[in-house]
Amino acid sequence: MLKSVLKKENYYPQPSLDETISPAKQPVNQAKLKPKQKTTSPLLNFPSAPTLQVVSRQRVADYGEVYTNPREVNAMLDLVKPETERLDSTFLEPACGTGNFLVEILSRKLAVAARQYQKSQLEYERAAVLAISSLYGIDILADNAAVCHARLFEVFNSQYNAHYKTKCKQACGNTVRHIFRRNILQGDTLSFKTSAGNPIIFSEWKFPFNDSRIQRRDYLFEQMCRSADGLAPPVKSYSPSHFLELGDAE
Ligand SMILES: C[S@@+](CC[C@H](N)C(=O)[O-])C[C@H]1O[C@@H](n2cnc3c(N)ncnc32)[C@H](O)[C@@H]1O
Repeated sequence: MLKSVLKKENYYPQPSLDETISPAKQPVNQAKLKPKQKTTSPLLNFPSAPTLQVVSRQRVADYGEVYTNPREVNAMLDLVKPETERLDSTFLEPACGTGNFLVEILSRKLAVAARQYQKSQLEYERAAVLAISSLYGIDILADNAAVCHARLFEVFNSQYNAHYKTKCKQACGNTVRHIFRRNILQGDTLSFKTSAGNPIIFSEWKFPFNDSRIQRRDYLFEQMCRSADGLAPPVKSYSPSHFLELGDAE
């Protein structure tokens, strides 16, 4: 079930963009951002905001938006180091911002996947999907959720390309995008609702047969949080399918 890693403040090294979002291409000079300036979306600064901790005073006041710096992220994650290096350990960041914690957890897990499975591309892909599918995030701000999604995708994509270059499969990228779309959500963690006012539903992804078939089961976030043991009945179960076909429906 979902565990939470709690957070504090700052921003993180910024990867290049996932094409699913289209922020400004020109880097923004952070030194020019004045604290009182009206909200500047991190998306606009992406991917050039490695030192940004605060976007605007307004966003700090409205949303408590102060990002955690990499040193603190790593120190906190080191407190649960074995979990950050276990491919299927589940993390939920309930106020994920632009993904400072999730990005680092994914990097650690993918390093493990590479050490153990890089020799077989299919096994690495399966291990990477297992790692990816265990990470969840919610942020109330749409731009944060989009940047978080893009950064996570880029962590995967850069590693995947480094390992397999021209042998990389479009289908694997599609699967990863599909999972991040379901796992990284814009919503209000406190009310358990999406920005559209619908209940937040998270998908659990499992490889039930220890082969290439993955199964999705959907759960109501509120039910999971309110149950004493974190367990809740699924609201929907899907038939297992090959993990490289998950993105076909997109
Ligand atoms: C202190 S920042 C932390 C961001 C990130 N976890 C980090 O450590 O860098 C808090 C984040 O919570 C988000 N937030 C505030 N209220 C929220 C709510 N009710 N539900 C979900 N996210 C929320 C803000 O948009 C902001 O990105």
